[in-house]
Amino acid sequence: MQRLDKLLSGTGKWSRREVKLLVKQGRILADGAPAPSPEAKYAPETAVLSVDGEPVMLSRYTWVMLNKPAGVLSATEDGRGRTVLDLLPTELQKLGLFPVGRLDKDTEGLLLLTNDGQTAHRILSPKYHVDKVYYARTAGRLEEVDCRAFESGMTLEDGLACLPAGLEILSVGETSECLVTLREGKFHQVKRMLAFRGKPVLYLKRLSMGKLPLDAALEPGGFRLLTEGERQMLQNGGKGIV
Ligand code: URA
Repeated sequence: MQRLDKLLSGTGKWSRREVKLLVKQGRILADGAPAPSPEAKYAPETAVLSVDGEPVMLSRYTWVMLNKPAGVLSATEDGRGRTVLDLLPTELQKLGLFPVGRLDKDTEGLLLLTNDGQTAHRILSPKYHVDKVYYARTAGRLEEVDCRAFESGMTLEDGLACLPAGLEILSVGETSECLVTLREGKFHQVKRMLAFRGKPVLYLKRLSMGKLPLDAALEPGGFRLLTEGERQMLQNGGKGIV
């Protein structure tokens, strides 16, 4: 059994203080009756809760989509700088969330945070074929021969053997723009692959993971909880989100 304020703040939608107010205003129904107090206890597996008549889904895990800005570390704690967790409100910070894979400090874009270790592992494992798509701007002119090299799976100077990957050229000039699709996520992988082709990355942003695109409404630093549909898609296994 868990306290109502803990259950509801765990969804990330309300702070404990807001739950207190909602209870006072009689806006929370719990198992068919107005919730008597924020401290009242309910079973998370069976409780039927609604706020203003809207059912509340209580799930064990929390999933957050963040549009990571440059300059922030994909870590849960770091003595030296701001981490992605610092961008979230306190209610969400308390839930034991961690980033699903890392983006470099200067990389922007889609970063998922969760406390569901098993599903996070599936999303990251190349075995489940969850493609990650990146937009990159590079120095130099990308060419078809670079696409072929990506497709055939290259081995970098330092011995890193990359799985076959996608490279789609969007524009070519003094700098080039492209989409890179990876099934794995080795350290600095996009930057290392493009640098190996002599086209160092100037800007990098992750656009999607499997079927989950970065929500275009999220400004850099913005976040939202995943919808029930998005969570189901992720939990239905990696293949379901390719
Ligand atoms: N590849 C990189 O080089 N950096 C990232 O942040 C993600 C993928």
